Amino acid sequence: MASVINLLAYLVLAAFLSFCFANAEIHHHQFVVQQTPVNRLCRTRSIITVNGQFPGPTLEVRDGDTLVINVINAARYNITLHWHGVRQMRTPWADGPEYVTQCPIQPGASYTYRFTIENQEGTLWWHAHSRWLRATVYGALIIYPKIGVPYPFVKPKHDIPILLGEWWNRDIISVMRQAIFTGAAPNVSDAYTINGEPGDLYPCSRKGVKKFIVKSGETVLLRIINAALNQELFFTVASHMLTVVGNDAAYNKPFTTRVIMIGPGQTTNVLLTANQPAGRYYMATRAYATAQNAAFDNTTATAILEYDSVSCSSKQGAPSTKPVLPPLPAFNDTNTVTAYTNQVRSLPSKIGKVPVHIDESLFFTVGLGLVNCIPGPRCQGPNNTRFAASMNNVSFVLPRRTSLLQAYYQNIPGVFTTDFPPVPPTVFDYTGNVSRALWQPSFGTKLYKLKYGSTVQIVLQDTAIVSTEDHPVHLHGYHFYVVGQGFGNFNPGRDTPNFNLIDPPVRNTINVPVGGWAVIRFVADNPGVWLMHCHIDSHLGWGFAMSFLVENGHGKLQTIEAPPPDLPRC
Ligand code: C2O
Repeated sequence: MASVINLLAYLVLAAFLSFCFANAEIHHHQFVVQQTPVNRLCRTRSIITVNGQFPGPTLEVRDGDTLVINVINAARYNITLHWHGVRQMRTPWADGPEYVTQCPIQPGASYTYRFTIENQEGTLWWHAHSRWLRATVYGALIIYPKIGVPYPFVKPKHDIPILLGEWWNRDIISVMRQAIFTGAAPNVSDAYTINGEPGDLYPCSRKGVKKFIVKSGETVLLRIINAALNQELFFTVASHMLTVVGNDAAYNKPFTTRVIMIGPGQTTNVLLTANQPAGRYYMATRAYATAQNAAFDNTTATAILEYDSVSCSSKQGAPSTKPVLPPLPAFNDTNTVTAYTNQVRSLPSKIGKVPVHIDESLFFTVGLGLVNCIPGPRCQGPNNTRFAASMNNVSFVLPRRTSLLQAYYQNIPGVFTTDFPPVPPTVFDYTGNVSRALWQPSFGTKLYKLKYGSTVQIVLQDTAIVSTEDHPVHLHGYHFYVVGQGFGNFNPGRDTPNFNLIDPPVRNTINVPVGGWAVIRFVADNPGVWLMHCHIDSHLGWGFAMSFLVENGHGKLQTIEAPPPDLPRC
């Protein structure tokens, strides 16, 4: 008998241990890109979705897991998907920006994205990276810590993904085509959305309004993602404090705030404790708009945070209480944004070593431009121009016959050059009164080459060309340390000594302050071709992008994997 009990105990222990040290999982998904009818703002419109869902499916994985996502394109447009913020170590073929790491998946075709999450935890997301299709094609990617690894904060009762989006009553591709044709700024959106729904303050939207139920006293984790196409957003919850604990899949030292600002591409994890009188409270989001004289969507999207005791009593017929509407900062309230941003400090124990010695010191001007044109229907930008955008005065042009990564890997000549300028071609007072002679960028497909393992610093400097503006700049394949930020022109003598090399925020998308600068650092330890661009899609389309070509190092672990056999052809 005793030996049977021993054997049982042994088996239980073995099962427990293998559970704890289970190998990472492989998650298989099928994503069918399709037309889906959706009713919003009193009309039904056919949008592009994944699996008929809007927002698309939430992916939940653990650090170390592998994702295998078979994308079938049943829609009428070319498409690619991008796993925003996933480092894609040695798997640039799975990154997704069209004509950068792959040719698009054509209607009727399919492609399987395979990649592994390596040393990342937090909230990321996925979205189309093909023209403006990401307006409706996006979803959350939640990365839990490995089994047995705790959060650096009290474990929340549950998670609530909050995807902020932007909605147009018109077909998004026709909005984009009109802008490309005319050269003018695109029509602004008709609504913002929270998890696909505009909420109570818009016509015909009451029924769909998103409700999140909480129990009195519990703490939940809001995983907020700005999936809006073209707009930085404020987000707040009536009467509740938000404790910010993470950004772009990196932990920060917790701090509390009433309101956050989040740029397109960014994610913010906040803890919320349901410590208010049981009731219904609005979550609200609206624009943070910094460009001068530029139209923007000034509406407000809402969802409802509801205490479960209230839901029960309203089911029993008691009148449901009207939700409390929170105050939001003014549209151009940069002071609130700066005060918020300055509080973000990473957890030094979680972020590795901030590079101190720099191999590549780069300085990129970023912003808009105008190209002169002959008056006519295709010349409807301000004063006979077409809008453009650039980095270091180069307006980025995507190749059309192959991707940059394939051209590099297969040595196809004539697709790109590697002479992207490390510093601006002309030095000027970037945020001052810029001479009109400097407003027109040049066009090109220029990459900047980095040696494997080199340490890189980039000063991202906003310009006053057309208008100063806060730009969310995203780097693929990496996350980076934000060692400094400020207003006006970056001044190395004055600003370098103030860099934060102790607990700088770690991000994959940085809001370059309006009329200011941000300095980022990273180690080029991921070979491949990596796009860097403004995550405002209209600016990306105007050429606000460049790419790094990071060379292989030595051996298999420092070398790009071979392209998958089903890589789409152009
Ligand atoms: Cu989230 Cu290149 O994008």
